[in-house]
Amino acid sequence: MTQIKRVAVLTSGGDAPGMNAAIRAVVRKALQENLEVYGVLRGYEGLIKGDFIEMNSKSVANIIQTGGTILKTARSEVFKTEEGRKLSYKNLKKAEIDALVVIGGDGTLKGARALVDEYNFPVVGIPGTIDNDLFGTDMTIGYDTALNTVMTAVDKIRDTAMSHDRMFFVEVMGRDAGFIALRSCIAGGAEAALIPEVETDINALHEKLLGYMRQKKTSCIIIVAEGDDAGGAFKIKERLQEFGDDFDMKVTVLGHTQRGGSPTSYDRYLASRLGIAAIEALIDDQRSIMVGMINNEIVHVPFNKTIKHHRTIDQKMLEIINTLNT
Ligand code: F6P
Repeated sequence: MTQIKRVAVLTSGGDAPGMNAAIRAVVRKALQENLEVYGVLRGYEGLIKGDFIEMNSKSVANIIQTGGTILKTARSEVFKTEEGRKLSYKNLKKAEIDALVVIGGDGTLKGARALVDEYNFPVVGIPGTIDNDLFGTDMTIGYDTALNTVMTAVDKIRDTAMSHDRMFFVEVMGRDAGFIALRSCIAGGAEAALIPEVETDINALHEKLLGYMRQKKTSCIIIVAEGDDAGGAFKIKERLQEFGDDFDMKVTVLGHTQRGGSPTSYDRYLASRLGIAAIEALIDDQRSIMVGMINNEIVHVPFNKTIKHHRTIDQKMLEIINTLNT
């Protein structure tokens, strides 16, 4: 059993609301366990450069309510190379750091797995991404806040869509996954969601829109996942224009607004529980795992499992959207 005295924490990849709450929980739990804690700046870039700062209880005061990440983040290309990881390991050893907590999405966990596999260095991951695309946890940190951001935007768009009898295509993030699109479609009462997991049939979509018009529905909102195979909201609009109807169509791309803002109570709660669980796991000599939460219980998921298994969408969600739009 490795005796851990000093741990480090970093955030990597796209920032997600609630990452700060997770950092806070990691730091405070580590201090409670009499561990020394260091923050690594700018994700794996900070490991490569040896950019470490010592943290105490005060360093994480007043951050639970803030979006972004106080440790900053980056998508490191250098860490993807063996040389980058070698440098990182050297810097961790030099700073006498015994274990690492990484907060981020799929790419972050892949990086963590490489560090464990190549150097047997203990790493525990915390799922932090607005995309909710990680296998082994009901929700990832940031997803709930992003959903609320999209829902609020859709509510606002509906006011203007109704006033002008317009059709709106609202493009949401999610990379190659449709989780944000599906949930926000239901919560925002939108008429349809186009997602990467289901091939978009432009003729069927056109028929659906004509159907709405026949029902004297003069406005509607379609949520388009950025990774949809049709090529995004502008492309969908273009292809629908080719049918020559007189639909008044507008596109809104929500973009990075979905990544910011104060985390919801759920994201703060989830982040706090996962932060504590990560330190507990390290003390328990765990390495190469992600902590997740399923049915309100903490689970440990091996990196291999969460990285290999592609999280699938729940078909029920599509049925719900259909039911609510008949
Ligand atoms: O993974 C989070 C995410 O916001 C995705 O939804 C999106 O595709 C991507 O990051 C955008 O990344 P960047 O901010 O680096 O352009």
